[in-house]
Amino acid sequence: MNVIIRPDEQSVTDTAYLFVKDRMNRKRYRVLGLPTGGTPLRLYRALVEGHQRGDIDFADVHTFNLDEYIGLEGDHPQSYRHFMQVNLFDHINIAADNIHFLSGLPTDIEDECEAYEEAIVELGGIKLQILGIGRTGHIGFNEPTSSLASRTRDKTLTRETVEDNRRFFDSDEEVPRWALTMGVGTIMEAREILLIATGRSKADAVAAMVEGPVTAMCTASALQMHPRTTVILDEAAAAKLDEDEYYR
Ligand code: F6R
Repeated sequence: MNVIIRPDEQSVTDTAYLFVKDRMNRKRYRVLGLPTGGTPLRLYRALVEGHQRGDIDFADVHTFNLDEYIGLEGDHPQSYRHFMQVNLFDHINIAADNIHFLSGLPTDIEDECEAYEEAIVELGGIKLQILGIGRTGHIGFNEPTSSLASRTRDKTLTRETVEDNRRFFDSDEEVPRWALTMGVGTIMEAREILLIATGRSKADAVAAMVEGPVTAMCTASALQMHPRTTVILDEAAAAKLDEDEYYR
């Protein structure tokens, strides 16, 4: 695991942007795995600006998002599909058919998840998977006790994750408790992984991921077993790392 510590959120974004741009300008990195949430927002803005400057071309890029809430239509303002549309896809030259998303209203959950896995394989696998991390140490919505070999499936969200997602909804009752998510095993098959974390609230999860044991109680710790993972942190998210001097 390559751990990079930057002074603040803006420099995390700048470093992550250069990392993604570099990979996207290589021919074989045309299939991306993407997260939603607060963490990637600045990166998506930087990618849009990079595209507007002519530095990044999305013409033949395919994207697979990590997860979607069960019960929300793709055009629901709080769906992850909608989040991606307004924060990234509306502003870049990606072909609509190249955007791959789990349905929040699947007719059959197992079929939906299997078809998603198959679509990833058909395109030759995800080349660069971008991730955030939850306070519970989750990647995607792989909450504690998720199998580290898990595939795309439905998952119940923990209380902490529901609380964290509350800020995007008008009332407690509206926050979904259930989601479809790529599995840890699915994520681990990506050729390269970039995880970004900022802010003090992520410091415990980051320390568990980087320096703790590999355990299903912090599914991000599985990334210790991935041969090409880069983690970019701000000072606040890196605050509980014991070996921070070494990473610097
Ligand atoms: C979202 C996802 C989650 C988030 C994580 C952090 O698609 O897969 O694992 O990356 O919950 O969320 P933020 O960035 O909102 O702190």
